[in-house]
Amino acid sequence: MGYWLKRLGYLVTKGKFRSSVAEHKHSKGIVDPEMLLPTITIEEATDDSEPILSEVVHADGNVSEEELRCIAKLVKFHQPKGIFEIGTFDGRTTLNMALNAPEAKVVTIDLPPEELHSTSFRIKKADHSFIKKDISGSRFIGTDTESRITQIYTDSAKFDYSKYASQMDVVFIDGAHTYEYVLSDTANSRKLLRDGKGLLIWHDYGWREVIQALNEYYENDPYFKGLKNIKGTSLVYLAVE
Ligand SMILES: C[S@@+](CC[C@H](N)C(=O)[O-])C[C@H]1O[C@@H](n2cnc3c(N)ncnc32)[C@H](O)[C@@H]1O
Repeated sequence: MGYWLKRLGYLVTKGKFRSSVAEHKHSKGIVDPEMLLPTITIEEATDDSEPILSEVVHADGNVSEEELRCIAKLVKFHQPKGIFEIGTFDGRTTLNMALNAPEAKVVTIDLPPEELHSTSFRIKKADHSFIKKDISGSRFIGTDTESRITQIYTDSAKFDYSKYASQMDVVFIDGAHTYEYVLSDTANSRKLLRDGKGLLIWHDYGWREVIQALNEYYENDPYFKGLKNIKGTSLVYLAVE
């Protein structure tokens, strides 16, 4: 075993890896922003009824089981007619949103792997493995929901959203996780909401650049004053009435 592998093993077993990473970031002037959004329990945000869940078994890249339940509960509670998703991946969230809104048309967008190196903005290395896959949406393909789901393959920052403007009631944002993409995807998602009203949901409020972008919205833009982090999850949502 090489020196660095041994050193890594030592730091991990001694629980020092995180603080060593933090020290490194600090010395480079990178400071993790605080998670300052107010929290709300999923029961406070919805009601007591349980959603339909399918394909619950988690794969690396999916939202957690609890996050899937929360998204399904929000969708069931709001009964959207139009749902838009940025970041299809294997379609586990797409499927569960469709199941809980039986009247909804669902549109989901995913980056084709061959466009990984020609995107509008930076993409984090940590996102690469979720982009490099043979198929998007495998979990809903062949199910009864498939006929209500439209798949789009392009960079979310290059897509022309005007075709779906003001037609969506729920938008779920879980594409690329750089600051620029969170801003771009959020700005486009706002235009999709029917008369500017409905539900925006983000995943990964825990990744540094997602925290930074959502905190800035919360602090600087009155439209986002109602942002809430769902307790015990990395989900953030905004209900615009
Ligand atoms: C973490 S996965 C989404 C996981 C999904 N929400 C779930 O729970 O199963 C991120 C997805 O976003 C897609 N993606 C990354 N960058 C993108 C971009 N610029 N435009 C569109 N999709 C993008 C990736 O291909 C990947 O499928």
